[in-house]
Amino acid sequence: MTNRIYLNGFGYYAPAEILTNSDLQKLVDTNEEWIVSRTGIVERHMAAPGETNSDMAVHAAYMALEAAGLEPSELTAILYATATPDSLVPSTAATVQMKLGIHRVMAMDINAACSGFIYGLQVAQGLLAADPGHNILLLATELLTGKVNWQDRATCVLFGDGSGAVVMSAEKRAPQQPALFSNDVLLEGVMSSADGTSGGEALRMTDGESNGRRYRVGDKIGDDYFIRMNGREIYKHAVRNMPEICNKLMDSLGYTIRDIDALIPHQANIRIVEAVGERLNMPPEKVFINIQKYGNTSCASIPMALCEALEQNFIRPGMRVLITAFGGGFTWGAAVLKF
Ligand code: ACO
Repeated sequence: MTNRIYLNGFGYYAPAEILTNSDLQKLVDTNEEWIVSRTGIVERHMAAPGETNSDMAVHAAYMALEAAGLEPSELTAILYATATPDSLVPSTAATVQMKLGIHRVMAMDINAACSGFIYGLQVAQGLLAADPGHNILLLATELLTGKVNWQDRATCVLFGDGSGAVVMSAEKRAPQQPALFSNDVLLEGVMSSADGTSGGEALRMTDGESNGRRYRVGDKIGDDYFIRMNGREIYKHAVRNMPEICNKLMDSLGYTIRDIDALIPHQANIRIVEAVGERLNMPPEKVFINIQKYGNTSCASIPMALCEALEQNFIRPGMRVLITAFGGGFTWGAAVLKF
Protein backbone atom coordinates (compact mmCIF):
# COMPACT_ATOMS: atom_id res chain seq x y z
CA MET A 1 0.00 0.00 0.00
CA THR A 2 1.42 3.35 -1.02
CA ASN A 3 0.26 6.67 0.34
CA ARG A 4 2.26 8.90 -2.00
CA ILE A 5 1.16 9.29 -5.60
CA TYR A 6 2.94 11.57 -8.05
CA LEU A 7 2.18 13.13 -11.38
CA ASN A 8 5.66 12.98 -12.90
CA GLY A 9 5.21 14.52 -16.33
CA PHE A 10 2.60 16.44 -18.29
CA GLY A 11 1.80 16.78 -21.97
CA TYR A 12 -0.85 18.29 -24.22
CA TYR A 13 -1.82 18.65 -27.81
CA ALA A 14 -4.23 20.82 -29.77
CA PRO A 15 -4.80 20.21 -33.49
CA ALA A 16 -3.50 22.87 -35.87
CA GLU A 17 -6.76 24.00 -37.45
CA ILE A 18 -8.49 26.87 -35.67
CA LEU A 19 -12.16 27.69 -35.96
CA THR A 20 -12.92 31.29 -35.02
CA ASN A 21 -16.21 32.85 -34.00
CA SER A 22 -16.39 34.58 -37.39
CA ASP A 23 -15.97 31.18 -39.10
CA LEU A 24 -19.01 30.02 -37.13
CA GLN A 25 -20.99 33.07 -38.18
CA LYS A 26 -20.83 31.68 -41.71
CA LEU A 27 -22.44 28.41 -40.55
CA VAL A 28 -25.15 29.47 -38.11
CA ASP A 29 -27.04 32.58 -37.04
CA THR A 30 -24.67 33.76 -34.31
CA ASN A 31 -22.29 36.59 -33.58
CA GLU A 32 -19.03 37.36 -31.80
CA GLU A 33 -20.71 39.34 -29.03
CA TRP A 34 -23.14 36.53 -28.09
CA ILE A 35 -20.45 33.85 -28.08
CA VAL A 36 -17.84 35.83 -26.14
CA SER A 37 -20.22 37.29 -23.56
CA ARG A 38 -22.03 33.99 -22.86
CA THR A 39 -19.12 31.57 -23.13
CA GLY A 40 -15.77 33.43 -23.16
CA ILE A 41 -14.76 31.49 -26.29
CA VAL A 42 -12.90 33.30 -29.07
CA GLU A 43 -11.61 30.29 -31.01
CA ARG A 44 -11.33 26.52 -30.75
CA HIS A 45 -9.07 23.90 -32.33
CA MET A 46 -10.46 21.28 -34.67
CA ALA A 47 -8.99 17.90 -35.62
CA ALA A 48 -7.96 17.59 -39.27
CA PRO A 49 -9.97 15.28 -41.55
CA GLY A 50 -8.79 11.76 -40.71
CA GLU A 51 -7.11 12.82 -37.47
CA THR A 52 -8.50 10.60 -34.72
CA ASN A 53 -8.92 10.94 -30.99
CA SER A 54 -6.05 8.47 -30.45
CA ASP A 55 -3.80 10.35 -32.92
CA MET A 56 -4.17 13.44 -30.75
CA ALA A 57 -3.54 11.47 -27.57
CA VAL A 58 -0.30 10.00 -28.90
CA HIS A 59 1.19 13.51 -29.25
CA ALA A 60 0.28 14.36 -25.65
CA ALA A 61 1.45 10.95 -24.44
CA TYR A 62 4.95 11.30 -25.89
CA MET A 63 5.29 14.75 -24.36
CA ALA A 64 4.28 13.48 -20.91
CA LEU A 65 6.51 10.39 -21.15
CA GLU A 66 9.52 12.49 -22.10
CA ALA A 67 8.79 14.92 -19.27
CA ALA A 68 8.61 12.01 -16.82
CA GLY A 69 11.82 10.47 -18.19
CA LEU A 70 10.00 7.26 -19.07
CA GLU A 71 10.01 5.03 -22.14
CA PRO A 72 6.65 3.74 -23.40
CA SER A 73 7.89 0.21 -22.64
CA GLU A 74 8.10 1.10 -18.93
CA LEU A 75 4.35 1.77 -18.71
CA THR A 76 2.20 -0.75 -16.86
CA ALA A 77 -1.24 0.77 -17.48
CA ILE A 78 -3.01 3.17 -19.82
CA LEU A 79 -6.16 4.90 -18.58
CA TYR A 80 -7.98 6.85 -21.27
CA ALA A 81 -10.68 9.34 -20.36
CA THR A 82 -12.92 10.17 -23.29
CA ALA A 83 -16.56 10.42 -24.31
CA THR A 84 -15.65 10.46 -28.01
CA PRO A 85 -13.62 7.25 -28.46
CA ASP A 86 -12.24 6.14 -31.83
CA SER A 87 -14.50 3.12 -31.40
CA LEU A 88 -16.37 1.40 -28.60
CA VAL A 89 -14.35 -1.76 -29.21
CA PRO A 90 -11.39 -1.75 -29.26
CA SER A 91 -11.03 0.80 -26.51
CA THR A 92 -9.09 3.88 -27.50
CA ALA A 93 -6.63 2.98 -24.73
CA ALA A 94 -5.85 -0.29 -26.53
CA THR A 95 -5.40 1.63 -29.80
CA VAL A 96 -2.98 4.05 -28.16
CA GLN A 97 -1.07 1.15 -26.65
CA MET A 98 -0.57 -0.19 -30.18
CA LYS A 99 0.40 3.26 -31.52
CA LEU A 100 3.00 3.62 -28.76
CA GLY A 101 4.43 0.25 -29.86
CA ILE A 102 3.91 -1.51 -26.55
CA HIS A 103 2.13 -4.72 -25.61
CA ARG A 104 0.56 -6.54 -22.72
CA VAL A 105 -0.17 -3.72 -20.33
CA MET A 106 -3.56 -2.93 -18.87
CA ALA A 107 -5.47 -0.46 -21.05
CA MET A 108 -9.01 0.82 -20.66
CA ASP A 109 -11.26 3.77 -21.43
CA ILE A 110 -13.07 5.77 -18.77
CA ASN A 111 -16.21 7.69 -19.70
CA ALA A 112 -17.16 10.27 -17.11
CA ALA A 113 -17.74 13.03 -19.72
CA CYS A 114 -16.05 16.30 -18.70
CA SER A 115 -15.03 14.83 -15.33
CA GLY A 116 -13.02 12.03 -16.96
CA PHE A 117 -9.61 13.38 -15.98
CA ILE A 118 -10.55 13.58 -12.28
CA TYR A 119 -12.11 10.12 -12.44
CA GLY A 120 -8.89 8.90 -14.09
CA LEU A 121 -6.82 10.33 -11.23
CA GLN A 122 -9.00 8.44 -8.78
CA VAL A 123 -8.73 5.14 -10.70
CA ALA A 124 -4.95 5.63 -10.91
CA GLN A 125 -4.85 6.30 -7.18
CA GLY A 126 -6.57 2.95 -6.60
CA LEU A 127 -4.22 1.08 -8.94
CA LEU A 128 -1.16 2.59 -7.26
CA ALA A 129 -2.52 1.82 -3.80
CA ALA A 130 -2.88 -1.82 -4.84
CA ASP A 131 0.49 -2.00 -6.60
CA PRO A 132 3.02 0.84 -6.14
CA GLY A 133 5.05 -0.62 -9.01
CA HIS A 134 2.68 0.85 -11.61
CA ASN A 135 3.72 3.47 -14.14
CA ILE A 136 0.41 4.81 -15.41
CA LEU A 137 -0.28 6.92 -18.46
CA LEU A 138 -3.50 8.86 -17.93
CA LEU A 139 -4.88 10.43 -21.10
CA ALA A 140 -7.87 12.74 -21.42
CA THR A 141 -8.79 13.45 -25.02
CA GLU A 142 -11.87 14.60 -26.89
CA LEU A 143 -12.78 15.00 -30.54
CA LEU A 144 -16.02 16.89 -29.99
CA THR A 145 -16.16 18.69 -33.32
CA GLY A 146 -17.14 15.31 -34.77
CA LYS A 147 -20.17 15.14 -32.49
CA VAL A 148 -21.65 18.62 -32.78
CA ASN A 149 -24.58 19.44 -34.98
CA TRP A 150 -23.25 22.29 -37.14
CA GLN A 151 -26.82 23.53 -37.58
CA ASP A 152 -27.45 23.91 -33.84
CA ARG A 153 -26.11 27.31 -32.79
CA ALA A 154 -26.73 26.59 -29.12
CA THR A 155 -24.09 23.83 -29.05
CA CYS A 156 -21.78 24.11 -32.08
CA VAL A 157 -20.12 27.29 -30.79
CA LEU A 158 -19.08 25.68 -27.50
CA PHE A 159 -16.81 22.75 -28.21
CA GLY A 160 -13.26 22.08 -29.40
CA ASP A 161 -10.77 19.22 -29.74
CA GLY A 162 -7.64 18.49 -27.74
CA SER A 163 -5.69 16.14 -25.54
CA GLY A 164 -3.93 16.17 -22.19
CA ALA A 165 -1.70 13.52 -20.61
CA VAL A 166 0.02 12.79 -17.33
CA VAL A 167 2.33 10.00 -16.22
CA MET A 168 1.69 8.80 -12.66
CA SER A 169 3.70 6.64 -10.28
CA ALA A 170 4.42 6.14 -6.59
CA GLU A 171 7.92 7.59 -6.97
CA LYS A 172 9.58 10.89 -7.64
CA ARG A 173 10.92 10.18 -11.08
CA ALA A 174 10.92 13.32 -13.21
CA PRO A 175 14.45 14.07 -14.54
CA GLN A 176 16.83 15.88 -12.17
CA GLN A 177 16.99 19.04 -14.24
CA PRO A 178 13.32 19.65 -14.72
CA ALA A 179 11.96 20.76 -18.04
CA LEU A 180 8.74 22.75 -18.11
CA PHE A 181 6.42 19.73 -17.92
CA SER A 182 8.68 17.57 -15.71
CA ASN A 183 7.35 17.73 -12.20
CA ASP A 184 6.92 15.43 -9.26
CA VAL A 185 3.51 16.69 -8.26
CA LEU A 186 1.91 15.09 -5.22
CA LEU A 187 -1.72 14.03 -5.54
CA GLU A 188 -2.90 15.11 -2.09
CA GLY A 189 -6.50 14.04 -2.57
CA VAL A 190 -9.19 13.29 -5.13
CA MET A 191 -12.98 12.81 -4.98
CA SER A 192 -15.55 11.94 -7.65
CA SER A 193 -19.32 11.78 -7.71
CA ALA A 194 -22.27 11.31 -10.06
CA ASP A 195 -26.04 11.71 -10.24
CA GLY A 196 -27.85 10.12 -13.15
CA THR A 197 -31.23 11.30 -11.92
CA SER A 198 -30.65 15.01 -12.42
CA GLY A 199 -28.17 14.62 -15.26
CA GLY A 200 -29.74 11.99 -17.45
CA GLU A 201 -31.61 14.31 -19.80
CA ALA A 202 -29.63 17.54 -19.52
CA LEU A 203 -26.68 16.49 -21.66
CA ARG A 204 -26.85 13.61 -24.10
CA MET A 205 -24.69 12.20 -26.85
CA THR A 206 -25.24 8.73 -28.22
CA ASP A 207 -23.61 6.67 -30.88
CA GLY A 208 -26.69 6.08 -32.98
CA GLU A 209 -28.72 4.38 -30.31
CA SER A 210 -30.77 6.03 -27.66
CA ASN A 211 -32.73 4.60 -24.74
CA GLY A 212 -32.39 1.09 -26.10
CA ARG A 213 -33.53 1.98 -29.64
CA ARG A 214 -31.14 0.35 -32.11
CA TYR A 215 -30.43 1.76 -35.52
CA ARG A 216 -31.10 -0.63 -38.36
CA VAL A 217 -29.67 -0.79 -41.84
CA GLY A 218 -30.99 2.11 -43.88
CA ASP A 219 -31.99 4.24 -40.89
CA LYS A 220 -30.88 7.86 -41.11
CA ILE A 221 -28.72 9.20 -38.31
CA GLY A 222 -31.08 10.90 -35.90
CA ASP A 223 -30.54 14.07 -33.92
CA ASP A 224 -29.63 11.90 -30.96
CA TYR A 225 -26.26 11.24 -32.63
CA PHE A 226 -25.20 14.80 -31.80
CA ILE A 227 -24.54 16.57 -28.52
CA ARG A 228 -27.79 17.87 -27.08
CA MET A 229 -27.98 19.89 -23.92
CA ASN A 230 -30.13 21.93 -21.63
CA GLY A 231 -27.65 24.74 -20.95
CA ARG A 232 -29.48 26.32 -18.03
CA GLU A 233 -29.91 23.00 -16.23
CA ILE A 234 -26.20 22.25 -16.65
CA TYR A 235 -25.23 25.68 -15.39
CA LYS A 236 -27.38 25.32 -12.27
CA HIS A 237 -25.92 21.95 -11.26
CA ALA A 238 -22.35 22.80 -12.27
CA VAL A 239 -22.07 25.90 -10.11
CA ARG A 240 -23.55 24.03 -7.15
CA ASN A 241 -21.72 20.70 -7.35
CA MET A 242 -18.17 21.85 -8.14
CA PRO A 243 -17.84 24.19 -5.14
CA GLU A 244 -19.55 21.60 -2.93
CA ILE A 245 -17.11 18.81 -3.76
CA CYS A 246 -14.14 21.19 -3.58
CA ASN A 247 -15.17 22.17 -0.04
CA LYS A 248 -15.71 18.54 0.92
CA LEU A 249 -12.28 17.60 -0.40
CA MET A 250 -10.55 20.56 1.27
CA ASP A 251 -12.31 19.72 4.57
CA SER A 252 -11.11 16.13 4.35
CA LEU A 253 -7.53 17.35 3.85
CA GLY A 254 -7.77 19.96 6.62
CA TYR A 255 -7.48 22.89 4.17
CA THR A 256 -9.47 26.02 3.56
CA ILE A 257 -9.45 28.02 0.33
CA ARG A 258 -6.64 30.13 1.82
CA ASP A 259 -4.37 27.07 1.56
CA ILE A 260 -4.98 26.92 -2.21
CA ASP A 261 -2.72 28.96 -4.51
CA ALA A 262 -4.53 28.38 -7.81
CA LEU A 263 -7.90 27.05 -8.99
CA ILE A 264 -8.24 25.31 -12.34
CA PRO A 265 -11.86 24.45 -13.06
CA HIS A 266 -13.00 22.51 -16.13
CA GLN A 267 -13.19 25.10 -18.89
CA ALA A 268 -16.92 24.63 -19.57
CA ASN A 269 -17.69 28.27 -20.17
CA ILE A 270 -16.52 31.53 -18.66
CA ARG A 271 -19.65 32.06 -16.58
CA ILE A 272 -19.40 28.68 -14.92
CA VAL A 273 -15.66 29.12 -14.27
CA GLU A 274 -16.16 32.55 -12.72
CA ALA A 275 -19.16 31.44 -10.65
CA VAL A 276 -17.21 28.49 -9.23
CA GLY A 277 -14.33 30.82 -8.29
CA GLU A 278 -16.75 33.25 -6.61
CA ARG A 279 -18.61 30.56 -4.68
CA LEU A 280 -15.29 29.24 -3.37
CA ASN A 281 -14.19 32.78 -2.42
CA MET A 282 -11.14 32.40 -4.64
CA PRO A 283 -9.71 35.74 -5.84
CA PRO A 284 -10.25 35.96 -9.63
CA GLU A 285 -6.53 36.41 -10.29
CA LYS A 286 -5.94 32.91 -8.87
CA VAL A 287 -8.43 31.25 -11.24
CA PHE A 288 -6.86 29.98 -14.46
CA ILE A 289 -8.84 30.52 -17.67
CA ASN A 290 -7.88 29.47 -21.20
CA ILE A 291 -11.33 28.74 -22.65
CA GLN A 292 -10.87 31.68 -25.03
CA LYS A 293 -8.31 29.62 -27.02
CA TYR A 294 -9.76 26.12 -26.95
CA GLY A 295 -13.48 26.26 -26.22
CA ASN A 296 -14.86 23.44 -24.12
CA THR A 297 -12.67 20.37 -24.67
CA SER A 298 -14.56 18.32 -22.06
CA CYS A 299 -12.26 16.03 -20.06
CA ALA A 300 -9.13 17.31 -21.86
CA SER A 301 -9.63 20.83 -20.56
CA ILE A 302 -8.02 20.40 -17.12
CA PRO A 303 -4.78 18.66 -18.17
CA MET A 304 -4.46 21.09 -21.10
CA ALA A 305 -4.99 23.99 -18.70
CA LEU A 306 -2.43 22.56 -16.26
CA CYS A 307 0.16 22.55 -19.07
CA GLU A 308 -0.66 26.10 -20.14
CA ALA A 309 -0.62 27.27 -16.53
CA LEU A 310 2.90 25.81 -16.21
CA GLU A 311 3.99 27.43 -19.49
CA GLN A 312 2.69 30.80 -18.33
CA ASN A 313 4.27 30.45 -14.88
CA PHE A 314 0.77 30.68 -13.40
CA ILE A 315 1.67 27.48 -11.52
CA ARG A 316 5.08 27.37 -9.89
CA PRO A 317 6.91 24.87 -7.66
CA GLY A 318 5.56 24.90 -4.11
CA MET A 319 2.02 25.89 -5.11
CA ARG A 320 -1.06 23.92 -4.12
CA VAL A 321 -3.58 23.69 -6.96
CA LEU A 322 -7.26 22.76 -6.75
CA ILE A 323 -8.81 21.28 -9.89
CA THR A 324 -12.51 20.59 -10.33
CA ALA A 325 -14.77 19.33 -13.10
CA PHE A 326 -18.44 18.84 -13.89
CA GLY A 327 -19.96 17.06 -16.85
CA GLY A 328 -22.61 14.91 -18.44
CA GLY A 329 -24.12 12.16 -16.35
CA PHE A 330 -24.04 14.30 -14.26
CA THR A 331 -20.53 13.63 -13.02
CA TRP A 332 -18.25 15.86 -11.01
CA GLY A 333 -15.09 15.77 -8.95
CA ALA A 334 -12.11 17.60 -7.52
CA ALA A 335 -8.46 17.00 -6.72
CA VAL A 336 -5.69 18.82 -4.87
CA LEU A 337 -2.20 18.78 -6.41
CA LYS A 338 0.96 20.00 -4.64
CA PHE A 339 3.53 21.24 -7.16
N1 ACO B 1 -25.69 32.75 -31.01
C1 ACO B 1 -26.70 33.63 -30.86
N2 ACO B 1 -27.81 33.35 -30.16
C2 ACO B 1 -27.87 32.15 -29.56
C3 ACO B 1 -26.85 31.18 -29.68
C4 ACO B 1 -25.73 31.53 -30.45
N3 ACO B 1 -24.70 30.68 -30.61
N4 ACO B 1 -27.22 30.08 -29.00
C5 ACO B 1 -28.42 30.33 -28.46
N5 ACO B 1 -28.82 31.58 -28.81
C6 ACO B 1 -30.06 32.24 -28.46
C7 ACO B 1 -31.18 31.29 -28.14
O1 ACO B 1 -31.79 30.81 -29.29
C8 ACO B 1 -32.08 32.16 -27.32
O2 ACO B 1 -32.83 32.97 -28.19
P1 ACO B 1 -34.38 33.28 -27.88
O3 ACO B 1 -34.37 34.01 -26.58
O4 ACO B 1 -34.79 34.11 -29.04
O5 ACO B 1 -35.05 31.96 -27.78
C9 ACO B 1 -31.11 33.07 -26.57
O6 ACO B 1 -29.86 33.00 -27.28
C10 ACO B 1 -30.89 32.66 -25.15
O7 ACO B 1 -30.68 31.25 -25.16
P2 ACO B 1 -30.39 30.51 -23.83
O8 ACO B 1 -30.11 29.06 -24.11
O9 ACO B 1 -31.47 30.82 -22.86
O10 ACO B 1 -29.06 31.21 -23.41
P3 ACO B 1 -28.40 31.26 -22.01
O11 ACO B 1 -28.39 32.65 -21.52
O12 ACO B 1 -28.92 30.19 -21.11
O13 ACO B 1 -26.91 30.88 -22.38
C11 ACO B 1 -25.43 29.00 -22.39
C12 ACO B 1 -26.63 29.66 -23.04
C13 ACO B 1 -24.20 29.88 -22.61
C14 ACO B 1 -25.19 27.66 -23.08
C15 ACO B 1 -25.73 28.83 -20.88
O14 ACO B 1 -26.96 28.19 -20.68
C16 ACO B 1 -24.66 28.11 -20.18
O15 ACO B 1 -23.62 28.65 -19.93
N6 ACO B 1 -24.90 26.80 -19.84
C17 ACO B 1 -23.92 25.88 -19.44
C18 ACO B 1 -23.80 24.84 -20.52
C19 ACO B 1 -22.40 24.41 -20.83
O16 ACO B 1 -21.42 24.97 -20.43
N7 ACO B 1 -22.33 23.34 -21.58
C20 ACO B 1 -21.10 22.78 -21.95
C21 ACO B 1 -21.13 21.28 -21.91
S1 ACO B 1 -21.37 20.65 -20.31
C22 ACO B 1 -20.01 20.94 -19.45
O17 ACO B 1 -18.94 21.09 -19.96
C23 ACO B 1 -20.16 21.04 -17.99
